[in-house]
This record gives sequence, structure tokens and C-alpha cells, in this order.
Amino acid sequence: MMSNDFKNNTILGPINSWMFKMLSGYMDYLFGKSKRELFKNHPEKVVEIGPGAGANMRYLAKGTKLIAIEPNIHMHKNLKKSAKKYGITLEIKTIVGESIDLPDNSVDFVACTLVMCSVSDPAKCIAQIKRILKPSGVFVFVEHVKARKNTLLELIQNATHKPWHWFFEGCNTNRDTKSLLESAGFSSLVLEEYNSYSPFIPIIPQIRGRAMK
Ligand SMILES: C[S@@+](CC[C@H](N)C(=O)[O-])C[C@H]1O[C@@H](n2cnc3c(N)ncnc32)[C@H](O)[C@@H]1O
Repeated sequence: MMSNDFKNNTILGPINSWMFKMLSGYMDYLFGKSKRELFKNHPEKVVEIGPGAGANMRYLAKGTKLIAIEPNIHMHKNLKKSAKKYGITLEIKTIVGESIDLPDNSVDFVACTLVMCSVSDPAKCIAQIKRILKPSGVFVFVEHVKARKNTLLELIQNATHKPWHWFFEGCNTNRDTKSLLESAGFSSLVLEEYNSYSPFIPIIPQIRGRAMK
């Protein structure tokens, strides 16, 4: 079943697409080391949820077949440009991660970075990822998450939530993605919590890791 419940924003969509493209070098500076580790030895076919402007293609081997679950049509142009630049065979599916039209147990590797903050129903999206993964299939992630209670970061996340949510088209500064992953029923979950210091203060608390079905 094809589904795209995503509300495309004709003003913010192109702005965000341009910004993610512009920031991809800086994102590589911030996340490159951990992403290279997470994407190491990925198979020939990769499914990515919310690839945006294609920030993760630089970590994929040339010739990789990437199935991009990207409901935001304003990202597609830059996604295609990145695919050309990095020699990736791209298939875009304009659907949401909560409703993936791939068969059960059909995929070896799913990736997702800075996306669970934005999907409307992250528990459903994680359940879909688990559903499409083959037994022993791997899900790799880097996400910004809810700060620890009673910290300055928590205060800043709550204070900036509304404008941030508006500008970044539904991004929640304070989502507890760690708990969602822990209760998703993966056979193994290796998850690291850390602070990624950058001028983007609300997204300093982050998690990264690998879950196996
Ligand atoms: C902050 S951007 C991150 C883009 C990219 N993954 C990166 O690391 O640069 C969030 C992305 O998630 C996508 N997104 C939002 N809601 C989604 C959903 N329900 N299913 C799949 N992707 C979604 C957005 O369109 C956007 O491309």
C-alpha cells in the first residue's frame, strides 16, 4: 500500500532541502567518523528512511542500490544530484516511514539519521523497519534525542521546541527515541548516548548505534 501522509511545504521544503545540502560538509565533520563506522561493510542494497538531500551517500560504496523512503518531494532534486555525484543507483519512494511498501523480511540493511525526531509516529516507523528487515538484518541510526531531566539542555529544548518544530517541518527537539528503540523488540541493540557539541544547541544530546532483528 502506497501512502504519503506527509504535508509538503512549498516554502520551507525547498529552504530545508537547500540548507541540508549546504550543511552536508559540516554534517560530515560532525558525524563522519561514526557514520563511516556504522555504514562499514553495508550490503549492495540499502534502504534509507528520510535521506533528505542525500547526506549519507558519501558513506556508501559506489554502485550501491539505495531505496530512499523520502516523503518530502522538495528533497528529491538534491537527492538525485547526490546519487549522481556518488555513483549510487537511486530509487525514491514518496512514502512515509510509517507505511513502507516493501515485503516482510526482505532487506538486509536499513539506515536512518536525524529522522525519528520528525516522523509523526516513530514507534510505527521503527516497527516498519523491523518488519522489512530479514532475520539478522541490521538497522543503523544516528538521532538527536531528549535531554536528561532538569538540565540546561532540557530547558533549551523545551523553549526552542515550537519554532524549531515549525521551521524544520515537524522536527521534535525532545523525543525519547532511545526508549522507543529499546522497546521495539530487536534481538540486539548497541546504542551509545553522547553530546555532539555544535551551534545547533537543541540537538546536542544524541544517540547512535546498530540494532539487529
Ligand atoms: C532533519 S532531515 C534529515 C535528513 C538526512 N537523513 C540527514 O541526515 O541529513 C529529516 C528528514 O526526514 C524526512 N521525514 C520526515 N517525516 C518523515 C516520515 N514520516 N517518513 C520518512 N521520512 C520523513 C524529512 O523529509 C527529511 O528529509
